Amino acid sequence: MSADSTAVATVRPARTVQGLVRIPGDKSISHRYAMLAAIARGTSRFHNFSAARDCASTLGCLAELGAPWRRADDGAIEVTGVGGPLKPPVASLDCGNSGSTMRMLSGILAGQPFTSELFGDESLSRRPMARIIKPLSEMGAKITSSDGGRPPLKIHGGSLHAIHYKPEVASAQVKSCVLFAGLFARGDTVIEEPIRTRDHGELALQAFGAEVERNGNAARIRGGQPLTAIEAHVPGDLSSAAFFLCAAAVFPGSQLSLPGILMNPTRARLLDILMQMGLKVSVAQIEQHHGEQVGAIEAHGATWQGGTIAGADTAALIDEIPVLAAIAPYSDNGLEVRDAKELRVKESDRIAAVATNLRKMGAEVDERPDGLRVFGRQRLHGAELDSFGDHRIAMAFAVAALRAEGETTIHGADAAGVSYPSFFDDLRTIAGG
Ligand code: S3P
Repeated sequence: MSADSTAVATVRPARTVQGLVRIPGDKSISHRYAMLAAIARGTSRFHNFSAARDCASTLGCLAELGAPWRRADDGAIEVTGVGGPLKPPVASLDCGNSGSTMRMLSGILAGQPFTSELFGDESLSRRPMARIIKPLSEMGAKITSSDGGRPPLKIHGGSLHAIHYKPEVASAQVKSCVLFAGLFARGDTVIEEPIRTRDHGELALQAFGAEVERNGNAARIRGGQPLTAIEAHVPGDLSSAAFFLCAAAVFPGSQLSLPGILMNPTRARLLDILMQMGLKVSVAQIEQHHGEQVGAIEAHGATWQGGTIAGADTAALIDEIPVLAAIAPYSDNGLEVRDAKELRVKESDRIAAVATNLRKMGAEVDERPDGLRVFGRQRLHGAELDSFGDHRIAMAFAVAALRAEGETTIHGADAAGVSYPSFFDDLRTIAGG
């Protein structure tokens, strides 16, 4: 298997999956820690901060806003907070490919006494931002966008007032955006979600010293609370670990060790589903860091059965569905994914991308408006595939290629760096090639 910097990866079939991988820090937590560190008083230190290009986009924007970062001698990322208003940026803020950067940072910028502009790459420029423009506008920010709620965004920040917000889509990015804005608002801001999403925003706010009250699917924050710098260890990203877990799942007799992985219950539904579908998983050495649970995963492949992902599970597994679908042809029963129309507005249209690549490998797939059905017991062949510029599609099909007959070529494989720059090296250590 090889991936060069010009973006083509070749993946050969593997005989098994075996070994240990140290997964880089969680992307969702790294974004939030960095953003809160920027507005906190003092210098925060983060060990195992995400290596993702997306998190570099966040750090770059924060530096433009007067909160510089540096890598310390021990590898920790240090962010020096302003402990007050951020600095008006001299240029537009480049969010790269990162929806998390744009959506969550907008919450902080809405409360700043200046105007800022955020833009992103071609993929991000197509993604919907009305979901954050609406609550932030209700709180008193003035936001202009292009083309009915797409980036670039121009945010005229200022004084905000609290709202009680019930978003239509279940999105942790929207929740964090509103809670971050709530820090700068007069009164108590409440966000009440249709389905409970990952709670890293709430936990991060608490880690930095803010009180966040939680009640079922609702979170409440009081405006005007000061934040204080922290030192933290970022757990390994479970969504990155998912690629290796899925690789292990389709090789009976495989053995995989993943130490130090995020076990937050709002993300760990993945492990239940993997177990239900046939992977043997055990978790040991569970610890807590700033409210985030961490554990060492041991996984063994057995018979991969497949199954159904729908409803709240779809929201809980939204980032892992591409790889689960990519390995579904190797299962006994196939995979049905429902209630997943959000997948169409991710870094690519992930339903279309998965269906296209699976068909190129010879698989039978039914594509539906809000999901797909991939049939089981299929034999795939190597093919020439496209990442569609999407990190999770590049990695999902590198995993599918391990069980195909013949070599697979993935164009645009460097997209993997958006969340996991060393992915192809790490895959090689457990799958050979
Ligand atoms: C994220 C939430 C999810 C996820 C994204 C990261 C987060 O997006 O797909 O990769 O860190 O909050 P949505 O909130 O749009 O569902």
